[in-house]
Amino acid sequence: MDWGMKNRLSRIIKPESGRCVMLAVDHGYFQGPTTGLKDLRKTITPLLPYADALMLTRGALRSCVDPENAPPIVLRMSGGNSMIRRDELSDETLTVAVEDAIRLNASAITLSVYVGSPHQKQTIANLAKLVDKGQRYGMPVLAVTAVGAELVRDARYLGLATRLAGEIGAHFVKTYYCEPDFEKVTSASLVPVVIAGGKKIEEKAALEMAYKAVSQGASGVDMGRNIFQSEWPVPMIQAVRKIVHENATVEEAWEIVKEAGAKD
Ligand code: 5RP
Repeated sequence: MDWGMKNRLSRIIKPESGRCVMLAVDHGYFQGPTTGLKDLRKTITPLLPYADALMLTRGALRSCVDPENAPPIVLRMSGGNSMIRRDELSDETLTVAVEDAIRLNASAITLSVYVGSPHQKQTIANLAKLVDKGQRYGMPVLAVTAVGAELVRDARYLGLATRLAGEIGAHFVKTYYCEPDFEKVTSASLVPVVIAGGKKIEEKAALEMAYKAVSQGASGVDMGRNIFQSEWPVPMIQAVRKIVHENATVEEAWEIVKEAGAKD
C-alpha cells in the first residue's frame, strides 16, 4: 500500500490496535432530516472528541463541522436516491469528485454498494471508479454493503457482499452484524470490516452487538443511530470505545451508560 494511502487509513483504523470507532451521520443524504440529526452540529459537537472518524456528506461537513476542530473525515461520495422512492434506493450515482474530497482533506471516501439489488452493476461500477481514483490519489475507499428490501441480512449474503467489495478493491468494508456466523463474514473478507449499528435498539443490546462483532473479527464500528438517537449519546460512544479499544466486557462498558442514568 502506498504511503499516502497507509497514512490516511491509519488516521481511522488505529495501527496500535487495528481498531476504530467511527461515527456515522451521513443519513441525510437519502433520508433528509433524520431523527437526532435535525440540528446536526448540536448533535455531533459533544461526540467529536470520542470519534476516531466522522462519516458524513460534504454539505454537512462544510456547514456543521469547524475545520479547526474536526476528526478524520470519511466522506460520503454516493447519492441520487431518496426515501420517497424506496423501490429505487439502489439507484445511486457518484455525487462528489474525488478532487473535492481531497480539497476537504478527507481521510477516506465512501459509497454504498447494493449487491443483489436492481442497480447492483451500477453501484459496483461506482465502487470500481472510486477505487481507481482513490488509487491515483492515495485515498482509501470504504464500501458500505447495503441491503435491498427483499434480501436477508445473514452471513451468506453479508459475506458475499463484503468479500465482493474487497475483491473490487475497497480498502475497508462496512456491513451489518449478523447471527449466527458473523465470523464467517470477517474471516472471508480481504480487508478490515466495521459494522453499522442499524436501527436504534436498547443501549445494552447495542453494546452487546459491538462486543460480539469485535470478538468475531470486526475492526470496529461505524455507528450512527445507536449513538446519536440514544438518550445518553456521549456515554454510549464512550462505552463503545471501551469495548472496541480496551477490549472491555459488555458489563464494564455498560457501567458508563448506567452511571448516566440508564436502567438495567
Ligand atoms: C447508510 C449508511 C449509514 O452511515 C449507516 O449505515 C448508518 O449507521 P447506523 O445504521 O449505525 O445508523 O451508510 O447507508
